[in-house]
Amino acid sequence: MKDVYILAIETSCDETSMAIVKNGREVKALTILTQMDTHATYGGVVPEIASRMHAENITIVLDETLKKSQLKIDDIDAIAVTYAPGLLGSLLVGVECAKVLAYVYNKPLIAVNHTIGHIYANNIENQIVYPSLALIVSGGHTDLVILKSEREIQLLGSTIDDSIGEVFDKVARLLKMKYPGGPNIEKKALLGKSSYKLPKPMNNDSYNFSYSGLKSYITNLIHNEQQKNHQINVEDLSASFQEVAVDELTRKVRLALKNTNIKNMVLAGGVSANKYLRNEIAKVCEELKVNFHVPNILYCTDNAAMIGCAAYPLYKAQIFADFNLNAKSNESIIRN
Ligand code: KG4
Ligand code: ZN
Repeated sequence: MKDVYILAIETSCDETSMAIVKNGREVKALTILTQMDTHATYGGVVPEIASRMHAENITIVLDETLKKSQLKIDDIDAIAVTYAPGLLGSLLVGVECAKVLAYVYNKPLIAVNHTIGHIYANNIENQIVYPSLALIVSGGHTDLVILKSEREIQLLGSTIDDSIGEVFDKVARLLKMKYPGGPNIEKKALLGKSSYKLPKPMNNDSYNFSYSGLKSYITNLIHNEQQKNHQINVEDLSASFQEVAVDELTRKVRLALKNTNIKNMVLAGGVSANKYLRNEIAKVCEELKVNFHVPNILYCTDNAAMIGCAAYPLYKAQIFADFNLNAKSNESIIRN
């Protein structure tokens, strides 16, 4: 088969990103224009501002990406776009841009699920082997799945309430750290010790996760200490929270690897940028003699390269979207 170049677009949250990916693995160009500083002023993403900024920036990001790649639009074989899940107004900007490019330049259009995109970031520097166990941890997801083949995913478990990324961000906000909180909790945790006794979330043998109890416990703890005029040790509480939150993930990964006897494991999503989590999962995999891969930190958080990677199997199977494609704020990982 001849080389395939996919131009991919990602605008599901607060990053306007485009990439050109060759053969589902080789990133020829990647541009990520983050709106993080704007949203940090408000303590979280403001959807209306996010979609307006995507609309303002998307053509700039397109020009820049083509320029970096030294390719012309004629060299592109397909246009891929994240259409779900995410913020509706933000997704719409990417979807409409993709449709215009596909129509004007007469290219096939490929609709990609953002969460599946995160998994495929693992094909950039490594290659996903089937079957693999995959843990996807982001601001919107906490999913444990089996990747059975290139386009077959079996869901083992999910969060029944908050995602782990949401809880990292919430705890960070309570501790007066800037948005996005995850990386800031990680930095503080490095300076502290795990001295706060926190409840273990969902302490059972299902593959589901639950983080709302831990979130409420920490919220109450901080409020109670403030009322008593006691000082919270931010570093120690960050370390304690990170340990308990990650321990729940490693416990379920160990359980799933033992029960399924799968010998390959990948980690994906924004929270997989967390070095403590990466190390803890690596330890479990080493103990169980499982091959483990996690994307380079650049490809863990939202980016269009992962969308170009996830679009490639769809391109090979000639699964194209038509111009009725619409953005969807919610969609399960097993639909694509
Ligand atoms: O995948 P992502 O960029 O966007 C979604 O699809 O949601 O994930 C964003 C989430 C945020 O909650 C952010 O705080 C978290 O990933 N995150 C981290 C780290 N880097 C990003 N959480 C913990 N440690 C990190 N180093
Ligand atoms: Zn994401």
